[in-house]
Order: sequence, then C-alpha cells, then structure tokens
Amino acid sequence: MDKKIVIAHRGASGYLPEHTMEAKAMAYAMKPDFLEQDLVLSKDNIPIVIHDIELDDVTNVAIKFPERKRKDGRFYVIDFTFEELQQLNVTERFDYKTGKQFYPNRFPKGKGNFKLHSLQQEIELVQGLNQSTGNTIGIYPEIKDPEFHHKNGKDIAKIVLEILADYGYKTKNDNCIFQCFDAKELERVRKELQSDLFLVQLIEHPEETKQLNHFATYADGLGPWYKQILDKKENGKWKFTSLVTEAHELGLKVHPYTFRADQLDDFSSFDEMLQVLFFEANIDGGFTDFPDKMVAFLAKY
Ligand code: G3P
Ligand code: CA
Repeated sequence: MDKKIVIAHRGASGYLPEHTMEAKAMAYAMKPDFLEQDLVLSKDNIPIVIHDIELDDVTNVAIKFPERKRKDGRFYVIDFTFEELQQLNVTERFDYKTGKQFYPNRFPKGKGNFKLHSLQQEIELVQGLNQSTGNTIGIYPEIKDPEFHHKNGKDIAKIVLEILADYGYKTKNDNCIFQCFDAKELERVRKELQSDLFLVQLIEHPEETKQLNHFATYADGLGPWYKQILDKKENGKWKFTSLVTEAHELGLKVHPYTFRADQLDDFSSFDEMLQVLFFEANIDGGFTDFPDKMVAFLAKY
C-alpha cells in the first residue's frame, strides 16, 4: 500500500459508458491498481454495478418500463429484479430531464449494446483476467446510499460484505478497498459487521474535513473531493489545505476523486493536475476516468 495507486473510476469511463463490462475490461487492460464498483441493490437483493439509486440517466428504462416510475417521476434500481434490469440498455450518462449527454465529447449516447451487471459478474471478470494475464488488479467497491437501502428494508453493507468474503476478499491483504460516503455506516461495517477490509471514508462536505480523528478510529483511508486539498494559487504555485498532512499524521491514506482529462478546471493540462496533487500535495492515489493517462503519468516517476 506504499506505492501511489490508480483507481479506474467507474471503469475506463472517459472512453466507454460508465460501469459497463466493456468499460471495465478496457480499464483492466490499462493496468490500474483497482477497478471501482458503485453498488445499488436490485429488488431481489443482487448488488448492481451502477452509480445512482436511479436508473433513468444511464439506461432506457423510461422507454422500456414507462409505467414503473415512482411518484417523483424517477425509476429506481431497487424496484426492479435482476432479470428485468438485464433487459435495459445502458448508455453514456445524460440529463434525464433534457436527454442531453453529460460529457458531449465522450462515447456517443444511444450507440452500442451495453447492459447492467452484478458485483459477482464483475468480480469474476477481474479474477478471471488476473488468472489469465498474471496481473493482480484489485476491486474498490462503494455501497451507495445505505440509508435509502435501510428505509427500503435492505442491508446493502451486509449483503456486499458476504459476497466479497465468498470471493476471498476478507482482510486488508486481499486486494479490495471498501468505500462509503455514509460515515455511520462505514463505522458500522468495521465495528458491528466486524469487517477487516481496508476501509476508505469518502467525504464531500467541508465540515467532514474536521472529523478526521473520528474517521481514523475505524477507517484506513480518506476519499475527499480533490478540491478539498487545494487552497489557492500564489505567484503561480499552489498552496494546500492541511487535509493530506492531517490524514497522514493519523495513518490514513488519501485517495481523492475524480481526475478527468476532459474537465481540468484550474489546470492547463492533465499532467499538471496530477503533478500538483500527487507530488506537491502528496496524495496516495486517485480516482480517474482516464486510467491510461494516470498510469502513464505515474510510470514516469
Ligand atoms: O467513490 C469515489 C468516487 O467514485 C467519487 O464518488 O460520486 O463518483 O461515486 P462518485
Ligand atoms: Ca464511487
């Protein structure tokens, strides 16, 4: 865990629709350290690899099952069985209200033949490729919105931990990092569900940066938005918040999200963005939609 790591964010999602098997196979071939899986349960308790609890901004659910929307007009993964979910086509992410593609220069919306899949199917892809190629690429699952799952009578943490254990992911040495934005639930994963996996606490709100001492009582790492690390630029040089230093003092690794070559924000190139975060701010790894570019960047050092 001492080398700086590359996490393929939703697969090679800069090139193919996110969280499809095709995006995962392409990412695998780019040799990142981990492939990420966002997880939501189906009606029949299968963890589906998808970013949101809703289906209607990456699939054709509104056309295929128009009568299945809830009162709020949205279509939810949890309302469909795995068999029904497999009938949907997956496409490049779009705004479900306007139909507009989120990243217009990425894979064209509506093209190709992509499907949803389960956590088990993706683990079998990764473990199968590890066997056939001799690589040792890991998985980096995230349980999405555990509170929503509890309200719907489902314990996503417990179900996912059992599947991970069945496939041999039980301890910090098993090439699996388990992540969650919900701090109460991640603490429960360690203390009540007694997981020995490497746990990463994801954060997004400013007030969460003040709770590192508490996070360090159960987590092994921190997953902040990368902008929570940047402070300001002075005379052409970046100053940083104390987040990485404080996390490191507490023994927490820092894996920020999300580095996108087509969304550079305050940087003039992707390599400059990576140089500043990896080697000036001293992060330990990063989530990226472009794993090939981050792998190539780190290979230079
Ligand atoms: O899980 C870390 C990274 O994936 C950022 O979050 O919203 O893309 O799942 P999100
Ligand atoms: Ca995620």
